[in-house]
Amino acid sequence: MATKININGDIQDEAFISILDHGFLFGDSIYEVVSTNHGKPCFLDEHLERLFASASGISLNIPSSKNEIKDQIQTTLDSAGNSESYIRIIITRGVGEIDLDPSSCLKPNIIILVKDFPQIPEEKYAKGISVALVSIKRNSRDSLNPAVKTGNYLNNILARVEAAKTGAEDAIMMNPWGQLTEATTSNLFFVIDGRLLTPDKECGILSGITRDKIIQLANENGMPLEEGKWPGEELLKAEEIFLSGTVKNIMPVSVLDNRPVGNGKPGPITRKMMKLYSELLENLNPA
Ligand SMILES: Cc1ncc(COP(=O)(O)O)c(C=O)c1O
Repeated sequence: MATKININGDIQDEAFISILDHGFLFGDSIYEVVSTNHGKPCFLDEHLERLFASASGISLNIPSSKNEIKDQIQTTLDSAGNSESYIRIIITRGVGEIDLDPSSCLKPNIIILVKDFPQIPEEKYAKGISVALVSIKRNSRDSLNPAVKTGNYLNNILARVEAAKTGAEDAIMMNPWGQLTEATTSNLFFVIDGRLLTPDKECGILSGITRDKIIQLANENGMPLEEGKWPGEELLKAEEIFLSGTVKNIMPVSVLDNRPVGNGKPGPITRKMMKLYSELLENLNPA
């Protein structure tokens, strides 16, 4: 169970970054989190595609190709030797003047952190977690676009802090127009009248890779699914709610604003999707 950090090709057990890096000073960075499945990075092409899209979203030129980054990820995984790993790829703007202008930063830093995959207690999947619909808004698409996965999560941190004050484990945010968006590090799905619903990308969300796979699975398995725009209050009518993301996969939500969702247990559509998703992962790289 080792943690290894690769900074610009140099792999270490512990690593340090200059405080003059604009990633540290201003949150001027982008990142991806990839999990392994049977030891191999899962949906890596999709994650690298999004990493490069995020880079272009903040006008940052990544000084390596996708293949070079893939090679570095594999070398870091080999060096850590974990059975399953959490991989975090971070690209910072680099060291520059203490000034917002990024033009003084000559070289982005490419950091690949590999650690043992964090185990989420089985009980959470069996019982579901609690969430709160918070007053902190997800950024609008014409400010820091939520589709760009930057190292600046302060907005989502504030949402999480607000949720924690009500005793909830995560927050669901609306956009400035009161439409549902997503949770702080995951996408949102809910069920009304037996239909699976998820906020549209136009509402201002990260286009989750797990979300895409769920939409694909729903379509392939004849489960009615709609991407759309719904006011926050709509969530109160949900019979089922779940969240999706790379680390948690599919996490049922059993409590919304301190009230049970449906009968307070993960519902049939959530359980069916959890099963389909775990089969998808199992079949990716059979052991
Ligand atoms: C804000 C936000 N939404 C959604 C997700 C889920 O995305 P993915 O399924 O690609 O992990 C994440 C993951 O980190 C996230 O930070």
